[in-house]
Amino acid sequence: MHVVTLRDLMWIWMLFLWCSSCHCGPDPRKREALIRLEASRRTGGNITLNEREELLDKKLQKLKQHDMEAGHVPPSMHFFKAKRFIDQSPVFSLLQKMPKGAALHVHDFGMVSVDWLVKNVTYRENCYVCFTDEQTVQFIFSSGQPASLPRCSSWNLLKSLREKIKNSTDLDNSFIRNLTLFTEDPDRAYPSQDIVWKRFEQAFLVAYGLVTYAPVFKDYLYEGLRQFYEDNIMYVEIRALLPATYELDGRLNNKDWSMRACQDVVKRFRENFPDFLGARVIFTVHRGINATEAVKTVEEAMTLHRNFPDIMAGFDFVGQEDLGRPLWYFKEALSLPEDRGVNLPYFFHAGETDSQGTDVDQNLMDALLFNTTRIGHGFALARHPVVKDLSRKMDVPIEVCPISNQVLKLVSDMRDHPVAALMAEGHPVVISSDDPALFGATALSHDFYEAFMGFGGMSFHLGTLKELVINSLRYSSLPSQTKKKAIEVLLVNWDKFVSESLL
Ligand SMILES: *[C@@H]1O[C@H](CO)[C@@H](O)[C@H](O)[C@H]1NC(C)=O
Ligand SMILES: *[C@@H]1O[C@H](CO)[C@@H](O)[C@H](O)[C@H]1NC(C)=O
Ligand SMILES: *[C@@H]1O[C@H](CO)[C@@H](O)[C@H](O)[C@H]1NC(C)=O
Ligand SMILES: *[C@@H]1O[C@H](CO)[C@@H](O)[C@H](O)[C@H]1NC(C)=O
Ligand SMILES: *[C@@H]1O[C@H](CO)[C@@H](O)[C@H](O)[C@H]1NC(C)=O
Ligand SMILES: *[C@@H]1O[C@H](CO)[C@@H](O)[C@H](O)[C@H]1NC(C)=O
Ligand SMILES: [Zn+2]
Repeated sequence: MHVVTLRDLMWIWMLFLWCSSCHCGPDPRKREALIRLEASRRTGGNITLNEREELLDKKLQKLKQHDMEAGHVPPSMHFFKAKRFIDQSPVFSLLQKMPKGAALHVHDFGMVSVDWLVKNVTYRENCYVCFTDEQTVQFIFSSGQPASLPRCSSWNLLKSLREKIKNSTDLDNSFIRNLTLFTEDPDRAYPSQDIVWKRFEQAFLVAYGLVTYAPVFKDYLYEGLRQFYEDNIMYVEIRALLPATYELDGRLNNKDWSMRACQDVVKRFRENFPDFLGARVIFTVHRGINATEAVKTVEEAMTLHRNFPDIMAGFDFVGQEDLGRPLWYFKEALSLPEDRGVNLPYFFHAGETDSQGTDVDQNLMDALLFNTTRIGHGFALARHPVVKDLSRKMDVPIEVCPISNQVLKLVSDMRDHPVAALMAEGHPVVISSDDPALFGATALSHDFYEAFMGFGGMSFHLGTLKELVINSLRYSSLPSQTKKKAIEVLLVNWDKFVSESLL
């Protein structure tokens, strides 16, 4: 028989002390609480998912895991190389079906897939092409032989040219390449920011002669709305240069014509697709203009805003920020509305740069000082803590366009995008696509894929997506009543999407 001795008791006591000390590291409950706190700060962190959403989220996380472990993590690659993997991803097909609310940052001539421009527009009657000495092309519609352009071959009527060469496949493909940046080997084709921007602006010039032909202008906009609608977007804000459009006899139409054309097209589109909410225009001008021209342009913007209040949302500058003039240079022009007691909302591109400490790098702060409604890109925002806090206090969101940032060489691996840190702290963000047509992307789904998979990895979930799509309407320029109704409609569609995705 074994008698428990004092010595045994001491051993047991020491064993107990030893064991409890091995449990004594950091308190797991505290750790849990910190993890929860961090999760709550993230975009979508405070959204409570209902039972069905929880189920879909579980499914989504599994699908994500699969994409992340596939050996070629798509967000780590250049979009031009990742696209074929993304297109096969079940996460992507879910995002395509997801109601995405609004696209708030897209440009007038970057909306419609270039296939349509080539297959539909260049096959119309009276379309001429010339070949420039920079290996690009220009198009024009004309009732007779147009006058030649400098540094371009004489104009060829495309219909005759196509009849002559019989097989137009190669010619059409070369037009497609002229109109997009898409290429198999982007790193070789575009070694620097300046080179890729030059090609980018060149592609716009190629499209210019096609899309500024008055009948095409309207059809282009209609087709743009159709492609966005097909990608489950209910509302679009279009940054538009509103260039003069031309008729077959060379007559030019002014900006009022373009605004009325937009009104008509949106109205016609809504008659055909009543659940589409509409589109509004943000009038833009190239940031290369001088102060005198800027004054004139802002005055023009005020007039347009007064005459077309339902469709005209406000004003912005476009073009490569690093080479253009900084916002502060335009301060006289930009102060005009306030000086005259006129309301002209601003939607400035700002911080689409990695040139720290330059005049251009100041644009983010100046955009806020001029009470911008939203910030286009805001890529540099994470490096400006004061501006970041200010934008959060003012509830001014940044419009993040992942694929555009990558193609224009601000970031190569999406997982390194600075917005990942901003979304981790719940900074107000909307996702948009800038110029999807030039990048060979869908209206918005590819950008959503990159943001969802790249910026958040496994930490983003269905709540993140829900907050992003609600944000797209919350931060739109719609009047508050319309906005409220739009969000209600979106949430009904959202529930439908959740149910259908569970089948
Ligand atoms: C969620 O709520 C908490 C507490 O109100 C707040 O600190 C946090 O910033 C919120 N997160 C988001 C993403 O809004
Ligand atoms: C181009 O599209 C329009 C509709 O936007 C259609 O009416 C027309 O038939 C098409 N033309 C060609 C050549 O495909
Ligand atoms: C643009 O089109 C021209 C004429 O077909 C062609 O020679 C050129 O290679 C094209 N440009 C690009 C970037 O493919
Ligand atoms: C036209 O040319 C393309 C590319 O060169 C070729 O693939 C296609 O088969 C040709 N089409 C016809 C009808 O010959
Ligand atoms: C501003 O630009 C316009 C158009 O290019 C030009 O006519 C004008 O002289 C310029 N003004 C100044 C002050 O540089
Ligand atoms: C911006 O808004 C603030 C607060 O409403 C106002 O005091 C200021 O004058 C505005 N600035 C401009 C340039 O409109
Ligand atoms: Zn833009």
